[in-house]
Amino acid sequence: MKIAIMGAMPEEVAPILEKLANVEEVNYAKNKYYKATYKGTEVVVAYSKIGKVFSTLTASTMLQMFACDVLLFTGVAGGVNPQLKIGDLVVASKLAQHDLDITIFGHAHGYVPEGSVYVESDKDLVVLSKLVAQEMGVSVREGIIATGDQFVADETRKEFISSTFQADALEMEGASVAVVCDALSVPFFVLRSISDSADMDAGFNFEEFVQSSAKVSADFLMNMIDKLVAK
Ligand code: ADE
Repeated sequence: MKIAIMGAMPEEVAPILEKLANVEEVNYAKNKYYKATYKGTEVVVAYSKIGKVFSTLTASTMLQMFACDVLLFTGVAGGVNPQLKIGDLVVASKLAQHDLDITIFGHAHGYVPEGSVYVESDKDLVVLSKLVAQEMGVSVREGIIATGDQFVADETRKEFISSTFQADALEMEGASVAVVCDALSVPFFVLRSISDSADMDAGFNFEEFVQSSAKVSADFLMNMIDKLVAK
């Protein structure tokens, strides 16, 4: 097994890189990939840079060039579900692109012909996350994550994403990574910790909490990886 571990920003993968051995940096397509081992299992870690295009490129590279056979994404998100507070964890059951819009032709938001509005995460990985949460004594919400190329800091847009996609959280990379993994039949998992509530305070809160929330997500993911490499 070779595990791809992705984030979008340096803060999201830094806590993971610290824990790896035999780290080798490989430069490819204007990005850095860290080939390493963790407890004897091969891993490849990268942060893609923000947004759907960069995350698509990185996910494709992880699977096709580095031949990873499972992809785990860790990072932060804006909370949409009012029950989600800063630092809370969300595991994606399925993901959608909230900014994909050809509704003028009668299609649903997030849908293009031959695609689907939602892409589902790997069920076994979601089950594993629940086991890890139980063992750690932390609560993790399984929910819908909506992805788009915009930092949402606006109640109207947030409400649209909530009502159109029943989203619990939103971010800028998960659904594009999901589309790549689904197309290549590679199991994937998207984990996020809340950094803000996608409201008018979101910019301020994001800057304040991005690092601590990114670490919450990365530390949880490492506990999942402990289980995966022990299998
Ligand atoms: N990631 C974290 N917070 C976000 C927000 N408010 N909008 C988009 N992506 C985010």
